[in-house]
Amino acid sequence: MTTESVLAPIEDYGNPAISGMSQEEDAPRISVRSLWKVFGKNPERALEEQHESKSRTDIQREMNLVVALRDVSFNVSPGETFVVMGLSGSGKSTLVRCLIRLIQATAGKIIVDGEDVTDFNAKKLLEFRRSKVAMVFQNFGLLPHKNVLDNAAYGLEVKGMQKEERYSIAREVLNKVGLNGWENANQRELSGGMQQRVGLARALAVDPSILLMDEPFSGLDPLIRRQMREELATLQQEIQKTLVFITHDLDEAITVGDRIAIMRDGVIIQIGTPKEIITNPADDFVEEFTQGIPKSKVINIENIITKPVVVSPSSSIENTRAMMDQAGSDYAIGIDNEAKYLGVICREGLSNRLESDSDSVHRLIDSTLVPVYPNTTLDEALHSLSNQNLPIPVVDQNNTFIGVATHHNLLKILAGSK
Ligand SMILES: Nc1ncnc2c1ncn2[C@@H]1O[C@H](COP(=O)(O)OP(=O)(O)OP(=O)(O)O)[C@@H](O)[C@H]1O
Ligand SMILES: [Mg+2]
Repeated sequence: MTTESVLAPIEDYGNPAISGMSQEEDAPRISVRSLWKVFGKNPERALEEQHESKSRTDIQREMNLVVALRDVSFNVSPGETFVVMGLSGSGKSTLVRCLIRLIQATAGKIIVDGEDVTDFNAKKLLEFRRSKVAMVFQNFGLLPHKNVLDNAAYGLEVKGMQKEERYSIAREVLNKVGLNGWENANQRELSGGMQQRVGLARALAVDPSILLMDEPFSGLDPLIRRQMREELATLQQEIQKTLVFITHDLDEAITVGDRIAIMRDGVIIQIGTPKEIITNPADDFVEEFTQGIPKSKVINIENIITKPVVVSPSSSIENTRAMMDQAGSDYAIGIDNEAKYLGVICREGLSNRLESDSDSVHRLIDSTLVPVYPNTTLDEALHSLSNQNLPIPVVDQNNTFIGVATHHNLLKILAGSK
């Protein structure tokens, strides 16, 4: 994830969990450098300098070559979900197939954990495909004569693992993808969504560090598809694989992706976080793609935080009221002496003081107003704000108070175009 954001947060909290890891800190797990794939006779011809400015269509017409990938470069960090998105024919499948050399790239390098996959001999390539990387296909790719358990255990069987051990692992991963109890079922007894879960279980069973998924959910009906993508996002938080996920659906890309690469005609036009892509599209093509995706899905609450009146529990009621008056506010936030969030004090609450209460606001702090983290999306915040008159308190992972998100600021950003 990059730290750069289009809508700069009001404050930099210096919290890595909030600002995201910097790309440079980790050596990339996958590094693709100037990758070309040209289909046709003597494909290298398409790389010659004199054709540099020619479009894919021109090259196809003049030279009878299909440029499926054109000078494609990107890095994927360990544990990152990298989405490749583009229309049909833009080169997405060609790209993932080149990554595991199901097809040979015409030029360029594919560095995985520091080793160039394009240099691997047959033995090394086999080992690479069996242990380091697994692929999940659109059409599930299950073996029809094997039951669910054997399908899930297939990659381990190929590796020569004993039955007992591979079944034990297969059961574990089937459980992970929600197929507990289906071990003995056959493919024809399973819905599309379940078949794809088996495909995913089979890929996970070999415990690869890299998972390649080529439109894994596109054969499923929309409801199941949405469910699967949400489950994948949750599962990924647990398993933390390096994921290259292909889709032509931006909604899907945004749900699962840490970063998204947008491809057109074999070229990557833009790489960015969902927020960067939506709020700052590189060109008209990307903008058109992103239309219809509400910005509230990708913009986080950290962008609308303001500072309210804050008081400590020992503050006097009079002082608190005076501070609210001065700020023109009907509430104040109570924090302790380490700036941890305690709750909210409403103006009405100040007048409800009992005779027995001391002069401090201590007992008037209402802790039922639940705070959220800065990376909460505006979509999620909308839900909370629509149920309450008070703003949403925002805290960091240590419960240190950062600020509040108000109805006013939320509406302002939703009304604005960017
Ligand atoms: N074996 C091949 N021979 C010739 N051309 C090919 C071959 N495979 C793919 N192509 C061409 O390469 C281009 C990219 O195809 P690719 O399958 O990678 O696209 P895609 O983005 O995966 O599309 P889809 O969303 O439809 O799956 C297309 O123009 C396709 O016709
Ligand atoms: Mg494809």
